[in-house]
Amino acid sequence: MSESIVWRCPSNIALVKYWGKKENQVPCNASLSMTLQNAFTEMRLRRESKKKTGIELTYYFEGGRNAGFEQRILQYLERHIACFPVLKQYAVQIHSQNSFPHSTGIASSASAFGALVLALLSASGYEEDNFMQRASYLSRLASGSACRSIYPDYALWGQLDGVTASSNDYAIAVEEVHESFLDMRDAILVVDDEPKKVSSSAGHQLMKDHWYARRRFQQADNHCLNMLNVLKTGDFIQFVSIIEREALALHAMMMTSEVYYLLIKPGTIHSIEAIMQFRKESGIPVCFTLDAGPNVHVLYSGGDEEKVNTFLKTELAPGLKGIIYDRIGKGPQKMES
Ligand code: DP6
Repeated sequence: MSESIVWRCPSNIALVKYWGKKENQVPCNASLSMTLQNAFTEMRLRRESKKKTGIELTYYFEGGRNAGFEQRILQYLERHIACFPVLKQYAVQIHSQNSFPHSTGIASSASAFGALVLALLSASGYEEDNFMQRASYLSRLASGSACRSIYPDYALWGQLDGVTASSNDYAIAVEEVHESFLDMRDAILVVDDEPKKVSSSAGHQLMKDHWYARRRFQQADNHCLNMLNVLKTGDFIQFVSIIEREALALHAMMMTSEVYYLLIKPGTIHSIEAIMQFRKESGIPVCFTLDAGPNVHVLYSGGDEEKVNTFLKTELAPGLKGIIYDRIGKGPQKMES
């Protein structure tokens, strides 16, 4: 008889960016993210009887085999099999699906590895009080940004002086958040839906001997400290300023690495300029951020939703491949199987 376990894990958008890492997925700086709600991976894990020794895993993505991602999962699991006893006892079949389209500026590795680790921990019978922290720790080892997807609302990853419990090993929930930041929206402007030309892994490597690395890492840590304060006090002006500086700093690093590259497109710049202009004219504190790609995340408060959405639809949508509307979310969920 086979038993199945289902976990849903959301993606997240970094407000302060993780860019540059050391051995064993240790980040070079702290990062801080907002967890999304509508963009998630749902993973069904089925335990079956084993036919051989070693890991027996079959991975289906949206109904079909996905050999590339299956390999990445296997490499990760080979290294950390001791953490997932279910793999020693059972063969596992995984069926995964995303609620969002590919290559649209939503981090699919964050939600996928979050869901994978949560499902494997559950299937292994892990029931300690630190379940979520363990899941964050183990998903970081698979993909750094995944460790932040485990928490509701906002998460901080990386050791920061003066912030108790902060760690490079796992993310922690940001506990003190002003109510005006608990109803945020994230509209993703799809400028381009081609797969990425340069992977995030390659980007992290290029920070190794980047001219500006040392100061960039300091800047990000500083932004995290400031952002913790901003989230506590509800200061929208500073929120906008840190988030946009971070987005541009991330892309400035790409443009100035030894092997330099450009991921933003004319449509990215057009959207950014329109958002800044709209903010100036309307007085609404709406801002943009970018991931490692050309698509633009527009962040704003739920109270401004109607006005901002009308602006996005009328001014920007005609030049885009689409807009995906998301919002701040409550973190992973174990589903009825
Ligand atoms: C630009 O988490 O994808 O989205 O640890 O190599 O899997 P790996 O990298 P990944 O990098 C994310 C980079 C980013 C910024 C961020 O999410 O903080």
